[in-house]
Amino acid sequence: MKKKSSFSGQIGFVLAAAGSAVGVGNLWRFPYLVAKDGGGLFLIIYIVLVLTFGFTLLTTDIAIGRKTGQSAIAAYETMRPGWKKLGILTFCVPMLIMTYYAVIGGWILKYFTVYLTGDFAAAAKDDYFTDFITDPSSVWFGLIFMLLTGFIVYNGVEGGIERCSKFVMPILLVLVVGIAIFSLTLRSGDESGAVRTGLDGLKVYLMPDMSGLTLSRFLQITLDAMSQLFFSLSVSMGIMITYGSYVQKEVDLNKSVAQIEIVDTGVAILAGMMIIPAIFVFSGIDGMSAGPSLMFVALPKTFYTMGKAGYVIGLVFFLLTAFAALTSCISVLEAITANCMEVFHTERKKTTGVLTIIYLIATAVIALGYSVFYVEVKLPNGSTGQLLDIMDYISNSFLMPLISVFSTILVGWIVGPKWIAEEMEHPNGKFSRKHLYNIMIKYVAPFIMVILFLQSTGLLDR
Ligand code: PFF
Repeated sequence: MKKKSSFSGQIGFVLAAAGSAVGVGNLWRFPYLVAKDGGGLFLIIYIVLVLTFGFTLLTTDIAIGRKTGQSAIAAYETMRPGWKKLGILTFCVPMLIMTYYAVIGGWILKYFTVYLTGDFAAAAKDDYFTDFITDPSSVWFGLIFMLLTGFIVYNGVEGGIERCSKFVMPILLVLVVGIAIFSLTLRSGDESGAVRTGLDGLKVYLMPDMSGLTLSRFLQITLDAMSQLFFSLSVSMGIMITYGSYVQKEVDLNKSVAQIEIVDTGVAILAGMMIIPAIFVFSGIDGMSAGPSLMFVALPKTFYTMGKAGYVIGLVFFLLTAFAALTSCISVLEAITANCMEVFHTERKKTTGVLTIIYLIATAVIALGYSVFYVEVKLPNGSTGQLLDIMDYISNSFLMPLISVFSTILVGWIVGPKWIAEEMEHPNGKFSRKHLYNIMIKYVAPFIMVILFLQSTGLLDR
């Protein structure tokens, strides 16, 4: 039998997995949720959830992958015959995410090129983003992003994914730290003499805002944090199962899980430190309630107000965001590729080639969902959206919590947590959070996942 592909070692694996985890979720969604959900209060809740739920789900996925040496569809069947259906359901998540992730990657690429060509005043205009996405020619950026993703996955686990992550991730980390520090040194004054500084912005970011805190608001913040956590750690969608299947048996999974959690959460917190003080100083407190338009509307405006420095920072910001999106996007395509290779017994190059063509078409269709194929649909969680939002809703709000419910039941009650613990202790790793894991996987996680599922499908009123 042909030797299975693998990462070269712990560093290669951790950087690739962290590359999957660190994406637009960290740089875009996390800061705006912090601003919306009470600053430091959200941060505290999020960190507690990372150390409990995040750890449990990440450990589960990676251990399943390494122990079975397979991707989701085959892995669940190996764990317990008859559970292949859960594998198929899990496979649907990257399949759906892939239809739109390159579209968002394309938007980031567009902004990067706008800064590169020095036209950053244009990007600060009110309708710039809407005009861009409603123009059918915007499709090209998504297609280029998709092609790049296909090319990296085509080159294999070590030669493509690991090599790209080892190049991109260190640069990304340095840039995030650099801009976060710079952001804290910012200051601006107006005619009335009022001065706003980056450090004041940091206080807004870190101080828990307890005003008007009710039980229902607390629950809503917790649920926001929980769904952010799923998306951010790339769990319950088979991606970490696939990456886990490429980890050699000598690697200590306990350390790897801890390192992935630290990098993912660290980048999210630093992203808030670079964005919130900058918006606070230059756009005032209102700029922070920008919501999803934060990245493509509020930030370019802020960069513009900063003048020359804003131009450089904007350029670097969109470069690092493009890097983050790329390493996430390759993990999505890899999960699909690996499952297809196992199910259809095909080889990598052919599989990636066919999938890239399919997803070039899908990317074009979703991108045109703002122009040629415009639809407006009301989603069960109350929001309205276009094609991209529909795909996002089905994959992240519907399937991911549903899959977590079943996978925690399978591990906690059917095969038993010991099955996972054996892999975490192999060859001589110490599964130091074993008791926490057992309690979480058996009792807490299935229960909370059901609530998350009911809430995100609109069956449970907020
Ligand atoms: N974890 C990535 C982020 O935080 O942006 C996003 C992501 C990657 C989501 C891969 C889904 C996925 F399949």
